Amino acid sequence: MTTVSEFKPGLEGVPVTLSSISYVDGQKGILEYRGIGIEQLANQSTFLETSYLLIWGKLPTKDELVEFEHEIRYHRRIKYRIRDMMKCFPETGHPMDALQTSAAALGLFYSRRALDNPEYIREAVVRLIAKIPTMVAAFQLMRKGNDPVQPRDDLDYSANFLYMLNEREPDPIAARVFDICLTLHAEHTINASTFSAMVTASTLTDPYAVVASAVGTLAGPLHGGANEEVLTMLEEIGSVENVGPYVDHLIATKSKIMGFGHRVYKVKDPRATILQELGEQLFEKFGHDEYYEIALELERVVADRLGQKGIYPNVDFYSGLVYRKLNIPSDLFTPIFAIARVSGWLAHWKEQLTKNRIFRPTQIYTGSHNETYIPIHERNCAINLEGETL
Ligand code: CMC
Repeated sequence: MTTVSEFKPGLEGVPVTLSSISYVDGQKGILEYRGIGIEQLANQSTFLETSYLLIWGKLPTKDELVEFEHEIRYHRRIKYRIRDMMKCFPETGHPMDALQTSAAALGLFYSRRALDNPEYIREAVVRLIAKIPTMVAAFQLMRKGNDPVQPRDDLDYSANFLYMLNEREPDPIAARVFDICLTLHAEHTINASTFSAMVTASTLTDPYAVVASAVGTLAGPLHGGANEEVLTMLEEIGSVENVGPYVDHLIATKSKIMGFGHRVYKVKDPRATILQELGEQLFEKFGHDEYYEIALELERVVADRLGQKGIYPNVDFYSGLVYRKLNIPSDLFTPIFAIARVSGWLAHWKEQLTKNRIFRPTQIYTGSHNETYIPIHERNCAINLEGETL
């Protein structure tokens, strides 16, 4: 029988699946995709190769990679009816809401639910990885009143995204740094959005609904939305001298410091270390960022005040500074996280289908029983179920 002591808020420490996709050691600061350390993938792989690794469980041969990249290029365009639909979105809407809606809309065009057909699975994987960046860039241009830019087949995945976003070909270093950012964000075991994808997948719905539900989950400030909040916070702090009082105020009011802390990592997130190095490379090449000193001081002060609790920078802390140097507006940081994480979601979708059982957890009921229904005309004031007048 389930007892109250077995209830774990936030499912902390509760395994919800057997998975061979990625591994985190939160004490040692290790992250591996299919057994390969994130540092090696960041240095030597590309986002598309890493996506292949995550989804098909092995590094592709040269021919397999060429074919996969070719398929992705071929499917980058989005249907004009999706573009027309997106034109009707309010330009004041958040790009994550636009992305969630557009990802779900793909299901209107491609939903066959042939989940036992490997070709259908591959097509869905390719379409989602190929089209999501195009939809993010299209919304960005349309909300400024411009027409979306068509993808360029001669550009690699990341260079093409930056081209569609900024309407000019990116510097190769910027494109490579961006590609590494995507690799770093591609997968991270059972986080909230991946769990959301798995729960949705377990109903055997279509993969577009799976990704749309995961996008909605990623949007929240405790998850992917934190990267946007980090920049707002650095802006609010404004100077290195203000860091100490700012952190003390947050601690005193029991508020969270954005970009810090993690359910699993109790040391600095290895992705934060790599992102910090990438940021430094960009500052050297394209000029300094005044927020970087504030960020460094923030890391030092938080380690001093909260290090004993295991609160250190997570992946969201330095990513915003990198994206800012790439001239990406802050409300696109989380959609970019989604562009990357779609690979992890799809890997878990595919894994879930191989051993599916619908998720149907339980609860511990804390309400009452045998209450009497009171007809509305006999209720002379609002009362709650404990009989208290409201
Ligand atoms: N600032 C200050 N205190 C913190 C922070 C933080 N960022 N994170 C955790 N703590 C404290 C918290 O107050 C609590 O202290 P106490 O035990 O004294 O009450 C303790 O650490 C445990 O915190 P929790 O909220 O129970 O931990 P959790 O595992 O439920 O939450 C988290 C993890 C990531 C949601 C949380 O650390 C947080 O809200 N961080 C800020 C938001 C953020 O940066 N999110 C991005 C997460 S990483 C990437 C991603 O998932 O997208």
